[in-house]
Parts: sequence; C-alpha cells; structure tokens
Amino acid sequence: MVDDDPLVRRSVARIIEANGLATIEAASGPEALAILEREGEFPLVVSDIDMPGMDGVTFLREALHRYPDMAVVMLSGVADVTTAVECLKVGALDYLAKPVLIDEVRARVDKALEKRDLVLQNRFYQRNLESRVRELDHRNRQALINGVQMLVHALEAKDAYTSGHSARVSRYAVKTAVQLGFTAEHLEQIRLGGELHDIGKIGTREDILHKPGPLNAEEFQHIKAHAVLGERILAPFLAESPVVLRVVRSHHERLDGGGFPDGLTGTEIPPEARIVAVVDAFDAMTTSRAYRGSLTPGDAVQELRRCTGTHFDPDVVEAFLRAFADMSALPISI
Ligand SMILES: [Fe+2]
Repeated sequence: MVDDDPLVRRSVARIIEANGLATIEAASGPEALAILEREGEFPLVVSDIDMPGMDGVTFLREALHRYPDMAVVMLSGVADVTTAVECLKVGALDYLAKPVLIDEVRARVDKALEKRDLVLQNRFYQRNLESRVRELDHRNRQALINGVQMLVHALEAKDAYTSGHSARVSRYAVKTAVQLGFTAEHLEQIRLGGELHDIGKIGTREDILHKPGPLNAEEFQHIKAHAVLGERILAPFLAESPVVLRVVRSHHERLDGGGFPDGLTGTEIPPEARIVAVVDAFDAMTTSRAYRGSLTPGDAVQELRRCTGTHFDPDVVEAFLRAFADMSALPISI
C-alpha cells in the first residue's frame, strides 16, 4: 500500500487486511521500490497517483518493469481521472477514486487479484499446452519413423539387395542435393525419399524381383507399378512430406518423357526426383544384382554422361560428380 498520506495508507491497508491479506506500507515510490527489491514480487500493489517526488505513474512503470505480473490498483483524486486512465494503459488493472469507500476497495482488490490469477492461469495453460503439443509432435515423429522403419524392414525381408541400395541412394542424393543448394527440411525429405524410393516393391512379385534374366513386357509393366504403389502406401503417413512422395512416385521419370509412371518431361519432373533418378541409376550400375554384374564407378559415370539430357538432368549429374569427386571412394559403403 503506497501513499504519502499516512491516514489513507493505514485505512486502505486495514480494509485489505480485513480481507485476510497481509500488507506492507510505503510512504513513497522509492520506498516501495526498495521493498519490492528486498521482498520480491507482491500479488497486489495499491498506489496513490499524486505523491511528492516520484509520482504514481512513474512508480507504476518501474514496478511493472520489474514484476509485470503484479496486480496494481491506483488511487486517484477527482482531479486525476485522466492520469488514472493513463495508468490503465501503462498496465494498472484498475483505479479507485478518493475518498475511498470500504466496499469499493474490497470489490476492486478482489477483482484485481482475480484478474491476476486468470492471467497467471492462462499463462500456465498456454505453456503447458505448448509443451504438450511439442511432446505430441515428438511422439508423432517417432511413430512416423517407426512406421517407416517397419516398411523398410518389410521390404528388406523380401529383397535383401534393396536395403543397402536404399541407404546408399539416400546418402548419394543428400550430398548431391547439397551441391544443388537444397537445405534443412528439404534435405531431410530428400534423405527420406532416397530411403523409401523403392518401397512400392513390397508389392512386386518375388519371381520378378529376383529374376536373373531380362524381363518380358508384362513383367516390366508389373515392376513399373512400384512407383505409384510406393506413393500410395506412404501417402497416409507422409501427407506433410510432399517431397518424399514426389521422389517415390517420380524417380523413374526421364528428361525426354520416356520414363514412368507419368511420362513427365524436363522440369515437369520434380527436381528431387531428378536427383534420385541419377543416383539410383549410379548405385544400380555399381553394385551387382541377381541378373547382372557391376560396372566400375568410372564406367558407370560414362554411362550417366551418355544418358545425360535424354535420361538424366545434366545439372544433377554434374552436382553428383562434384559431390563425389573422389571416384576411388565409390561405391560408398554403408
Ligand atoms: Fe525404383
């Protein structure tokens, strides 16, 4: 209770004490600030506006600067109504007109304390809510990663070759994407896209997946379906990761429109899918599969260059070669 007039100070303090609260009195702004300094935050401050030395508005600013959550009620003489309104703008919750009436002090004090409680409760809920949302987000991500892992394991169980292939494609794709200027979240989606690009092969018949010789037209049609199937499998999981879905669907498109599933040409093909197309081909060529042996990295690069412009995006091929300039370290081991 801050007022230079001891009578007013005492009487307001008594009314507040009669409400079951303890009070400390100060005869000036500086004295009250010293008490705040010593005692820490108070739930409620009642302060006169018109005081010699530091006036009430200055005290209010100083006090709220230190403790923004304190409920402050100003006391104003009839002449100070404009100043009282200014106090509300500065952050006082209410003001009382002098001479003070017991019931009015009680009511205003109760209301100010209630308002403060509400503010604090709101803040508590807000913080709590934010941390709950973060926690849920974390759990969702974890569930997503688990789901993706499950799919990858399912495919590995069916086709052991794919597991190392997907991991290598993912690494190649990310380093190439860095060369092309992709960053942050985008890179993360390219990484996941590389990991999952062939996930649709879960639906490919094993006799075709492991066939040692060349595929006939019907078999080729069947294997082509993995791009669209992969996208369909992942769509419910990855609605918020469109890049991953684009990679999975479009990693077999060719610049000249001769690819599948959509026969897209040039820049119609998502850039992330153009990256995976190049590194997918490189990895396929440099590792041996059921139906053929492997090429040396040098021969594979020759092949990439030969198909640049028709099959592969030249910028991507160049970026890949920059990212993996040391050919002797290829293929990378996982
Ligand atoms: Fe594929």
